[in-house]
Amino acid sequence: MLKKRLVVANWKGYIESTEEAVKFAVMLRRGSRMFAGVEAWLAPPFPLIPIVADALKSSAIKVGGQAVSPFNFTPFDSAHGKQSKQHTGEVSGAMLKNIGAQFCIVGHSERRAHGETNEEVRMELANALSSGLAAILCVGEKERDLSGSHFAFVAEQITSALAGLVKPKQLLVAYEPLWAIGKNAEDAITPQDLEEVIIFIRKTLAEALGRKTALRVPILYGGSVEPANVPRLISERGISGFLVGHASADAESFIEILKLCRK
Ligand code: PGA
Repeated sequence: MLKKRLVVANWKGYIESTEEAVKFAVMLRRGSRMFAGVEAWLAPPFPLIPIVADALKSSAIKVGGQAVSPFNFTPFDSAHGKQSKQHTGEVSGAMLKNIGAQFCIVGHSERRAHGETNEEVRMELANALSSGLAAILCVGEKERDLSGSHFAFVAEQITSALAGLVKPKQLLVAYEPLWAIGKNAEDAITPQDLEEVIIFIRKTLAEALGRKTALRVPILYGGSVEPANVPRLISERGISGFLVGHASADAESFIEILKLCRK
């Protein structure tokens, strides 16, 4: 588990211009004393990563990608005449590192909705970690019913993504139920349900990675996190922080969330 609480901004496509991105980064940097003791990470769209990383240089705020390619970008294999860099439009973990990213989001539901499979998510996670990036694995069910089938759904997403990984050091999990994404503060999960699912995720991680490794994996919550619901969600002891979408696109509300996460 992290010593500090962590709040990750997933800008999605909310911030598109260089100007806006730099303005945000400068405000965050200037305001960082207000959220001392809380870690802030930003995930801008790919083209904005270098400029945001530059604006945050030598600060404690990390910058990362919203996704990474599932494909392997291995060097040209002359013996077999294979060129495994033929991946038009894909962004590898090495490319992300090269432009200053330190982490990436993997398997976000908005990408899964476009057809990303559990197997691709597994490949993305392996690529991110082997490139030296911290990886935030997103999991979460579309809906819940009284049968509790969402537990099996989330367990399958976790287990399949972790297949073949040995003691990953830079793994984080973000639980983001789809029914709570992109709504309002009152639509987020209740603290009781959050507690239950976090215990379940921790147990699933322990089965896949061993108890010791599992205990080190920070678990974040995402889905309509706003300043209004942070105090009640953060009171859940198993939670290490948040992955924030719409409320992270405004510097003032993001800073407010960071402030509310101080211990
Ligand atoms: P939201 O998005 O905060 O707008 O619900 C969270 C996410 O999708 O990561």
